[in-house]
Amino acid sequence: MQDSTQHSLIGQSINFLGVLEQVSQVAPLSKPVLIIGERGTGKEVIASRLHYLSQRWDKTLLKTNCAALPESLLESDLFGHEAGAFTGATRKHQGRFERADGGTLFLDEIASMSLRVQEKLLRVIEYGEFERVGGAEIINSDVRIIGAANVDLPQLAAEGHFREDLLDRLSFDVITLPPLRYRQDDIPLLADHFGLGMVKQLKRDFFPGFTESAREKLSRYAWPGNLRELKNVIERAVYRSEPDQLINEIIFDPFASPFRNLADPPIQTEPQSSESTESTTTYDFPMDFKAQVRAYEIQLLQAALQQHHYHQRRTAQALGLSYHQLRSQLRKYDLLPHKQEKPQAVENSV
Ligand SMILES: Nc1ncnc2c1ncn2[C@@H]1O[C@H](COP(=O)(O)OP(=O)(O)OP(=O)(O)O)[C@@H](O)[C@H]1O
Ligand SMILES: [Mg+2]
Repeated sequence: MQDSTQHSLIGQSINFLGVLEQVSQVAPLSKPVLIIGERGTGKEVIASRLHYLSQRWDKTLLKTNCAALPESLLESDLFGHEAGAFTGATRKHQGRFERADGGTLFLDEIASMSLRVQEKLLRVIEYGEFERVGGAEIINSDVRIIGAANVDLPQLAAEGHFREDLLDRLSFDVITLPPLRYRQDDIPLLADHFGLGMVKQLKRDFFPGFTESAREKLSRYAWPGNLRELKNVIERAVYRSEPDQLINEIIFDPFASPFRNLADPPIQTEPQSSESTESTTTYDFPMDFKAQVRAYEIQLLQAALQQHHYHQRRTAQALGLSYHQLRSQLRKYDLLPHKQEKPQAVENSV
């Protein structure tokens, strides 16, 4: 895990300051914490912050991505194994619970953990003890667990894919990170921060900043990949720009190209008539018609919300819908802001 003692967390929006306050409050307690957020919202840096603000700051902080290893490897990664526990286990191996003793263990993508590993984890949280794979010796370990997920854990638990009793124990407190689209005020700050970082990497003399039009594009975009996407977009914009000129060109999709996904041109057997030169859109069939329409509707709703700063009446007007029709569309696609992350202006705006 990167060393986040030096990592500056940028952001002044109300939603982000709320998160920082919650982090400061819960950090000193040696209790498990869950961090929930969309991809790229900063789960890993918040986990580091929790560790470095705790009394365990001078002890080890270890990280495992539960989605990256198959069940048996994850089990031995976390709990270790004895020599001969399985083919290839020639020597005893200390797992992360042993090595992080006194410190913090960050379990990323915790929803991917199999039910068997969940059971073992439950026991460590409950009694602070476990056995290495293939061993009988009881090992004690004092580790603070921070879990991260970008899925709805209570729903997974309700469906039987995640243990309810484990969820109860892990969720002493839950920090839900706001998506970047609910941190509008932070976008310019973060853009300058990432831009400056790239300028330093490129060893350029100074950071010229962005044109008005570039700033506007940045604040209108919906940022599905959140801070990581913003970082990439800004770094790309900086390195492609002239060192001494305001940055104007923002490329959101690096895959965009006139040559992308071109259908093979039809083989011409006869000379083309003038009507056949009209442009037609090509689609890949078979397709999931309902899913395509749904995705398109969500895209339109999100774009309209963005452009109208989440003002629902203006968004409805822009889409030619009544306010109630818009609300029902937003409800249908779960696009209504959840209480915690809702910018004040959204709910009250009429
Ligand atoms: N508040 C912040 N200020 C500055 N940079 C940040 C902040 N939060 C996150 N970042 C940067 O944004 C990027 C994404 O953060 P991070 O890896 O913590 O997100 P994540 O939620 O763990 O992503 P994923 O779901 O993809 O694992 C990283 O480069 C991180 O350094
Ligand atoms: Mg992460």
